[in-house]
Amino acid sequence: MAISSQSKGIVITVPVLVLSLSASAIFLFFLLSSLSSCNCPNSAQYSPDQAPQRPADADRRSVTEDDIEWVKDQIRVNRLSMQENVLRKGINPRTRAQQLQDLLQFKGISHYEGEEANNHTALPCPGELLVEDHHSNYGEPWAGGRDVFEFLAEASRLKPDSRVLEIGCGTLRVGLHFIRYLNPEHFHCLERDELSLMTAFRYELPAQGLLYKRPLIVRGEDMDFSSFGSDVQYDLVYASAVFLHMPDKLVWLGLERLVNKVKPYEGRIFVSHNIKFCSRLGTGECTKRLGTLGLEYVGKQTHDSLLFNHYEIWFEFKRNKV
Ligand SMILES: C[S@@+](CC[C@H](N)C(=O)[O-])C[C@H]1O[C@@H](n2cnc3c(N)ncnc32)[C@H](O)[C@@H]1O
Repeated sequence: MAISSQSKGIVITVPVLVLSLSASAIFLFFLLSSLSSCNCPNSAQYSPDQAPQRPADADRRSVTEDDIEWVKDQIRVNRLSMQENVLRKGINPRTRAQQLQDLLQFKGISHYEGEEANNHTALPCPGELLVEDHHSNYGEPWAGGRDVFEFLAEASRLKPDSRVLEIGCGTLRVGLHFIRYLNPEHFHCLERDELSLMTAFRYELPAQGLLYKRPLIVRGEDMDFSSFGSDVQYDLVYASAVFLHMPDKLVWLGLERLVNKVKPYEGRIFVSHNIKFCSRLGTGECTKRLGTLGLEYVGKQTHDSLLFNHYEIWFEFKRNKV
């Protein structure tokens, strides 16, 4: 059988037609598959589903080896090395003292002058806080607060709905990371230093956008936890660089008052640096005293920071009675 196109004088037989259609189909198939396997950027390649995923352990809070490799890579591809921080185009390094002086003398850039009532600032922040002097209040580096968080979060298997109490949270070097991670109102702290509390409320929480988390931060120095409610059960209570500054008697009083506020068995108390309040009694006597309270010493861990060149020693306790 032949299909003829008499007007142009072309004759196509059916087998030829079938053959040409099959050849076109095969050609199209290879063309499409080669397009889909090419490395051309297309929208599918940038889909968020294909963004790097956290490693298998979804509960992981701390930095991974991959994170470190990524940072190293960024430093390498941008050819970065540490430089002296001197005057250069658009950058005028100031010490905190100089910055404060600038603020007081020249009102910085676009600061309101005059009576607070005449400007639009709802929560005026003192210059001393704006220059972040408080980041140097403790011997510990400010950035190490992240390490402490990562260690404690992993060690206590922290979840957003966990409840956490920090004793002596200072200016929230560590607390900020907990507040950011936890559900609103789930972070509590007892702190005695007024300037630290002002710094937390007027600078750190607003500056970090964390006011909406409504942490319950209470001023006090007597290990009185009554303001935190009688029913609260903490998953984690920690004291970072605090118990070593307290009289042993006060630490024991605190532990006695805290026991019933720690979740039995799963809840943890972590104390950093040393537990001289305990070791000064002698091991046997300390174990006995802890036992009387319903507490048990779990052990000591050293947390090696992958980030900031330091390590910390932590002592872990749990409540072993209901
Ligand atoms: C070295 S700072 C550590 C602050 C914070 N935990 C950190 O790691 O960044 C010790 C903190 O414990 C607080 N502190 C000391 N004795 C206290 C007490 N009896 N009650 C509450 N806080 C206390 C101090 O005011 C200070 O803020």
